[in-house]
Formats: sequence, structure tokens, C-alpha cells
Amino acid sequence: MNLNKTALMAALDSVKFPLTGAGLVTAGKVAKVTTCDGHVAVTLDVAGLAAAEATGLGQACEAAIADVAARAKAPLVGLVVESADGRTLVRRTGPPAAAAAATPVAATAASAAPAAAKPAASGGASASLQAAAPSLPGVKHVIAVGAGKGGVGKSTVSVNLAVGLALRGHAVGIVDGDIYGPSLPTMLGLESMQANLRGNMLQPFYVHGVKAMTIGKLVDPEKPLIWRGPMAHGAFKQLVDQTEWGELDYLIIDLPPGTGDVSLTMAQQLRLTGAVVVCTPQKVAQDDAIRALRMFQQLGIPVLGVVENMSTFIADDISPPREYDIFGRGGAQLMAQRVGVPFLGAVPITIKLRQNSDEGNPSANFHGQTPLAQALDALVVNLESQVALAQMTTGARRPELTIS
Ligand SMILES: Nc1ncnc2c1ncn2[C@@H]1O[C@H](COP(=O)(O)OP(=O)(O)OP(=O)(O)O)[C@@H](O)[C@H]1O
Ligand SMILES: [Mg+2]
Repeated sequence: MNLNKTALMAALDSVKFPLTGAGLVTAGKVAKVTTCDGHVAVTLDVAGLAAAEATGLGQACEAAIADVAARAKAPLVGLVVESADGRTLVRRTGPPAAAAAATPVAATAASAAPAAAKPAASGGASASLQAAAPSLPGVKHVIAVGAGKGGVGKSTVSVNLAVGLALRGHAVGIVDGDIYGPSLPTMLGLESMQANLRGNMLQPFYVHGVKAMTIGKLVDPEKPLIWRGPMAHGAFKQLVDQTEWGELDYLIIDLPPGTGDVSLTMAQQLRLTGAVVVCTPQKVAQDDAIRALRMFQQLGIPVLGVVENMSTFIADDISPPREYDIFGRGGAQLMAQRVGVPFLGAVPITIKLRQNSDEGNPSANFHGQTPLAQALDALVVNLESQVALAQMTTGARRPELTIS
């Protein structure tokens, strides 16, 4: 059973507005309630309340909603309570904590606040989310590619790993987890293709030996993609679940920058073999990469390795080609050693790689015995090895523990 709006409104009205003692709905303080697939978003008018009171009110709403969900045996997958002026009062992802599920409907904000559940997403990212996540039927290995930083080459690495694995004979899919700024339409050359539905299942695009799906082919490419937390959650889930992948050896997920909603959603909804972290050689990129790496580990997702992208620039318009270390070299490898995760390899900056990405022709990166082709091949082989190792240690790596 799913949560419906009537039940949610009743729950919210059981919470009293501190200044008047009236129920929130009765007092007209609930500006908006949306619910979809166990995700709930509530917007409250908290004018006149101090920040701590507003947060307490949000937590009271959380407790009331968790309670109504527990009674109805309806999953509460994600919850965001915001103020009408855009502040996040409560954000949580994941099933209600036991305490919240058992909490009786709050009578007042003040009495409910201490009993409310801790938001799982803020400091409570939980390895148990991943331990409880279901496998994707027919898919042997799901691998996420992420980085703390934007623009370091997550999409480039994702696409080339997918194409490289396919060239080695694997059945491969790739999904654009970057639902805010999808890159796959360009990088895989999907522009002229049409998305197709069979029944209610999306048919993946089949290009460069890889099955691909991206939100970029389902929405107007010129429009900004603005998602609230629960909507982002739903969009990613739908892309993965409602695509007819068939049997795959690998499904690569190209993540958006940062350590936000989509990563949490993914950890909760999909059993992963592991994650690849992309990093450029310089210090500032390493700091962000370590944050991403720690996020994966906290979510219970093994880190399969680090890739150093834009490692060195190869000027191949002169003979012999000359190398320049624009961002330095080897920094990501040192970082990987320092934090004790495998180093998968380094990808040079080359004009060809950028051109082939812009032209939607990643297969061309693998042509010939160029330094780029050799670097990408090595990366793919190392990833295969790490996946094999992770498979062997899977049982040992998936403890049912909760980090809070
Ligand atoms: N090794 C490389 N050599 C040349 N160009 C590269 C290299 N890696 C990435 N690029 C180019 O840099 C740009 C950013 O790369 P990409 O889109 O893969 O980064 P991203 O981390 O996915 O970015 P975002 O955070 O926006 O998702 C692209 O134009 C891409 O073609
Ligand atoms: Mg990207």
C-alpha cells in the first residue's frame, strides 16, 4: 500500500502550530504536499517561528508521517520538509528508523521533536541502505562512476569504460545518473535517435556496442532540469527500473557531481558491485575525490578504484608526441595509495578524446595503438580484475551494519 495525500494531510493536521495550537492543515500552514512511490515532500509556512522552532515543527511532521506510514504498512522511502521560503527543515532517505516508526502521532512540535527520527541523509548515511538494496534482475555487475567534483571526466570515463568493456566481449549498459545535466546524448551520439517504449518499458539505445538510457532523450534538451529531492529519486529509479536492459554483464552509472540525492537513491535502490572514483591530479580535486570515496564507503559500496583523468597532456601534432603535465601527474595515484584503494589507471588529456566525445564517437578512442587507446584498455582490464576480486570478497564486504 502507498501513502496517499488524505492520510498525509490528516497526519500533518495532528501536528499543532506552536504559536496558535491549531492543527497545521486547519491553520493553513501546509502550503504543499506531494507524494510519489513512497517519497513525500511537504512545504510549510513557518512565518513567525524562530529557526529552531521551525526545525522542531519539521521534525514533528516527520514523526507524524513516519507514524502514519508505519500504521498503513506503507514504505516511506524519502521525506523532505521545507519551509515556504526554501529552507530544508528535514530531509531523510531510507526506511523509517525504528524509533520513528514506533513514535505515536505528535501532539505538539515541542513534544514530538526529541522523539523524531534522525534524518538518514545528514550524517546518518547508512551502509544498511546498500545491504538491503535489491539486485537488478539480469544484471551481473552495477558500477557507479562518481567524483566529488564537477567536470573532471566522470561521463567521459563512464562512456569509455562501457565501450571498452563491450569491446572485450561483455554485454554492457550505461545509464545517465546525471539527471540534472545528462551528457550521454552528446557523448554517445544519440541526438538523432528517438526514445521508444514497448508496453511501459523504455527500449535502451544501442550504440557503440552498448545499451544506453538517459533522461536527456526523454525531456526537452533545451530546458533546465530542476528536480526536488523526491523527484530526483523517482526519476533515477524509473530510468533504471523501466528500461528493458535484458541480460547484462555490466551496467555503468554515470553519476552527477557531488555527494547528493542521486548517490543516496542509488545506494538504496540498487545493489552495486562497486564504485569508480574519477579524479584529476591536482590537490583540490583529490580532496573532493576523497569525500566521494568516503561517501561510497559509508553507503556500504566498495570502491573498486580511482582513475586519474587529464593526467598529462599529449601534444600529438608534433613528432614524436610531447607530454606536458598541466595539472600535475600521479596525484590521484598517490591519493589512492594513501587511502588504501586500488588505482585503476591514468587517462591523458588529448584533443582526440574531447573531439570524439563531442562528436558522439567514443569507439574511435580505441582505434590504433595510440597512448589514449592503450590507457583506456589498461583501465578496462584493471576494472575487470577489481570486479572479479570484489566478487570473491562480496560476502565479507557486506556487513549489515549501520553507521550513524
Ligand atoms: N582526458 C580528457 N582529455 C580531453 N578532454 C577531456 C578529458 N576528460 C574529459 N574531457 C572533456 O572535459 C569535459 C568534461 O568532461 P565530462 O563531461 O566527462 O566531466 P564530468 O565530470 O562528467 O562533468 P559533470 O560534472 O558536468 O558531469 C568534456 O568536454 C570532455 O570531453
Ligand atoms: Mg558528467
